[in-house]
Amino acid sequence: MHDNNDIAIYIHWPFCKSKCPYCDFYKELYININQDDIINEYITSLYRYHELLPDRCVKSVFFGGGTPSLILPHNIEKILNTVCKLWPLYSDPEISLEANPNTDSATLFSDLKQAGINRLSLGVQALNDTDLHFLGRTHNTADARQCLEKIVKTFDNHSADLIYARPEQKLAQWHDELKEITSYGLKHLSLYQLTIEENTVFARKNIKPLSEDKALEMYKFSGDFLAAKNYPQYEVSNYAVPQFASRHNLTYWQGGEYIGIGKSAHGRLKINNKHIATVYPFIDEELTQQQRAEELIIMGLRLTKGIDKKTFKKICGLNLYDCINLSKLHILEELHLIKDTSDHLYATKCGFPVLNQIINELCV
Ligand SMILES: C[S@@+](CC[C@H](N)C(=O)[O-])C[C@H]1O[C@@H](n2cnc3c(N)ncnc32)[C@H](O)[C@@H]1O
Ligand code: SF4
Repeated sequence: MHDNNDIAIYIHWPFCKSKCPYCDFYKELYININQDDIINEYITSLYRYHELLPDRCVKSVFFGGGTPSLILPHNIEKILNTVCKLWPLYSDPEISLEANPNTDSATLFSDLKQAGINRLSLGVQALNDTDLHFLGRTHNTADARQCLEKIVKTFDNHSADLIYARPEQKLAQWHDELKEITSYGLKHLSLYQLTIEENTVFARKNIKPLSEDKALEMYKFSGDFLAAKNYPQYEVSNYAVPQFASRHNLTYWQGGEYIGIGKSAHGRLKINNKHIATVYPFIDEELTQQQRAEELIIMGLRLTKGIDKKTFKKICGLNLYDCINLSKLHILEELHLIKDTSDHLYATKCGFPVLNQIINELCV
């Protein structure tokens, strides 16, 4: 649920030390970059958003990438100081940063904590050297392990990203990686199924993904294994110790307002009852109620709890049943792929692996 004046802030840092062959995110090589200029541009942009949204209260800030662990800690502090100067903050804001093990240094994590970061998400991706090499990562398992140990010592809230369903991966190997990653005491895990995206090096090399059956077997295994380790799934790719779901990312999935700063970042705002989509630096477009409703359905069904019907109406002003195909809904219910209760609409465990098809059927 959202209070009317909650807002999340996403800061996108598109620079990376190298480009991973599977990655389709917007990124640039970190060469000849004047960090101070970019940080000043971000700060100017925060001021501009403040003029538009002076009465908001910031509940989370997320530094995502790219590789935001390349931002010098004093620049992180500069941005966070600006946010604090412009808006009131929740008493316990979630301030996250995505780190890549290839940027580690003796004091990186303690410096980031000192700068105001209170949640660290580490891009581990694999816990064996053959697969890290295949994924084109420039860190090895020893680096990842060292970072994992440091982040659990330094922060109270932490997460790691892993990519599974790699072409040659066996379930037994994945089991070992899950066993290891759950041994560090992290509060949150994101597990992404490897996708071969168009226009990536993997696509050009014609790398074939693991078969759908095997990928599904790994997905189901992960859910059961992590639930038994006290990481229940709460979103298609996300698992957390209870109370440690990413509050920032929940904003996207639950249709809250967020500002996007940085090249290729986008935002969603509600101003004078109008739904505004922003693309950095400030191009904006008004969304119709129906467009916003469709986004809420697509995002909300990613959550295991699904769409909260009252919140849906409060955000977009429409009844959920007026925005979905009801005859398809009944068929999906009969197939046990979706469940419709008095207050929520959600995809079942069987429905989750075919979520995209479910959404295509429901959204007309
Ligand atoms: C925006 S990326 C940034 C993370 C950070 N730069 C890093 O690489 O560690 C967020 C996550 O998306 C996942 N990801 C990126 N491309 C993917 C792909 N093609 N298939 C599956 N997961 C992918 C990775 O797990 C990655 O950590
Ligand atoms: S996966 Fe991360 S480090 Fe690799 S290119 Fe993409 S954003 Fe950069």
